Amino acid sequence: MRIVVLTGAGISAESGLRTFRDSGGLWEGHDVDAVATPEGFERDPDLVLRFYDDRRRAAATADPNPAHRALARLERALGDDFLVVTQNVDDLHERAGSVRLMHMHGELNRALCRACAARPEWHADLLDRPACPACGERTLRPDVVWFGEMPYGLDVIGDAVVSCDIFVSIGTSGAVYPAAGYVALAAAYGARTVELNLEPSDADVPFDEVWSGLASVVVPRWVDRFIVRDTR
Ligand code: APR
Repeated sequence: MRIVVLTGAGISAESGLRTFRDSGGLWEGHDVDAVATPEGFERDPDLVLRFYDDRRRAAATADPNPAHRALARLERALGDDFLVVTQNVDDLHERAGSVRLMHMHGELNRALCRACAARPEWHADLLDRPACPACGERTLRPDVVWFGEMPYGLDVIGDAVVSCDIFVSIGTSGAVYPAAGYVALAAAYGARTVELNLEPSDADVPFDEVWSGLASVVVPRWVDRFIVRDTR
């Protein structure tokens, strides 16, 4: 029984990290083009570096919630048959114990050197233009995938999505591709599709099963039911 879980900002909401598209969300009051595109970075690098420095600090003081922990529990039960694909750039999945994890939109705790393409682990501010540990140039940017850039790990993720038995989408609005297309892909290859979200999202194809509610409540409930059922 192979399971692929796709997570979005909603799974980290109860850890105190803002989602993007809800009222009061990160994009409200922010011009997305200004802070999440290569062109925006060229225009005003200070604005962009400050935006991600703030988000890195917020993530560092946040803790994983019961939803992150439930997924780590399911991974311990299923091992290599389980993969979390996250659109989130925070590190709450790994701090909850997830190991088989793909950060398709990059990580706040990594920098990307525009000169040598190194991707060093990074926990400090980037606004003051620290030198790249690999090449020494002051050309570091956040290792976050912006609109118009290629997400990470698409081959591995695509293979996992087409060969899973259950595809679960958690806390994502389904507004951004290619992640938003995975439910249709999984369904086309015969997977059962499940959505765990505050409210039903605008998916390309209807999910087979929809669980509405807070991730901290619904995800542990779904995981527990699954583990109990699978180990009996
Ligand atoms: N529990 C479950 N779901 C929640 C919760 C919660 N406590 N709070 C919010 N949600 C749901 C919202 O209803 C919404 O459907 O989480 C979803 C968050 O959607 P978005 O803000 O659009 O975030 P996401 O889908 O992760 O965005 C995808 O877009 O902005 C880019 O690159 C960025 O990775 C991001 C991508």
